[in-house]
Amino acid sequence: MKEVIKQLTEAFGPSGYESQVTELISNMVKDYADEVSTDVLGNLIAVKKGKENGKTIMFSAHADEIGVVITHIDDKGFLRFANVGGVGIASLVGNRVRFGNGTIGVIYSEKGDWKELKLDKLYIDIGAETKEEANSKVRVGEFGIFHREFTDLGHRVVAKSMDDRVGCAVLIEAMKQIENPTNTLYFVFTSQEEVGLRGARTSAYTINPDLGIALDVTLTGDTPEAHRMEVSLGKGAAIKVKDSSMITHPKVKELLVQLAEDGNIPYQMEVLERGGTDAGAIHLTRDGIPSGTISIPCRYVHSPSEMVDMRDVQACVDLVLAVANHDLDTL
Ligand code: CO
Ligand code: ZN
Repeated sequence: MKEVIKQLTEAFGPSGYESQVTELISNMVKDYADEVSTDVLGNLIAVKKGKENGKTIMFSAHADEIGVVITHIDDKGFLRFANVGGVGIASLVGNRVRFGNGTIGVIYSEKGDWKELKLDKLYIDIGAETKEEANSKVRVGEFGIFHREFTDLGHRVVAKSMDDRVGCAVLIEAMKQIENPTNTLYFVFTSQEEVGLRGARTSAYTINPDLGIALDVTLTGDTPEAHRMEVSLGKGAAIKVKDSSMITHPKVKELLVQLAEDGNIPYQMEVLERGGTDAGAIHLTRDGIPSGTISIPCRYVHSPSEMVDMRDVQACVDLVLAVANHDLDTL
């Protein structure tokens, strides 16, 4: 799985421009799906058909990542930019961005000031000396992402866009392991999660599932002086109780806990005080869809160096498999 995570996290896919990522995933899953398609908003939808008495489950993981968009290019060729999604400003200075055509730039702060980190004091230097030279490489309106390679630390791995390519990797691995399911399983690699759960909204409407499960990263409370939170790296799949976008349906929460208990899958309960996932959009679809989230614990979320533990990733795969194979009549 590490190789899949490496490929996915090194791909280019800011919100709205996920096609490089979804094409990569499409090639990885096409032999394991009955149908693969892409919709108007750029969601990649892979289906494994179930039996007649089965239910419909939608699993989602977002393909997009946070990034920047160029707003202005000055006479000396410096770029100004806005955020795409919740970019952590403190992690920008000195870091590099990569645009769609491969152009790389350095982010820095006016006056070299590290204390007053505001987005409108930051600029991107792509090595251009004039506006014309800059314009020959990039244009206003172009999207960029963090430029960082995947790093393997053993049990733990670090990359940009682990949020949520690691969730995509979990679904890809689960797809490989499921044969002849009873339930019809939709694996949706959604667009535009980071700017407001947009791809999940339209795809959930189309699929209209009996159960929706999002796979996404969550914060941890296990680093020096961290905000108090019960989630730690290496302690298993996190079963979400709530975040800002939803309260997990009690029956879905109980089902996930029961399946983890029955399957001896390490798990922990997650209460996220801010942030949301695709399940926030799925559960509000039509007249409401029972939904939940299986979270991959992740340190340094929305920085260029997001860290997860492969043992948690495995636990999440196991929990997805348990849900996929469950007889949902009891829900
Ligand atoms: Co995110
Ligand atoms: Zn995410």
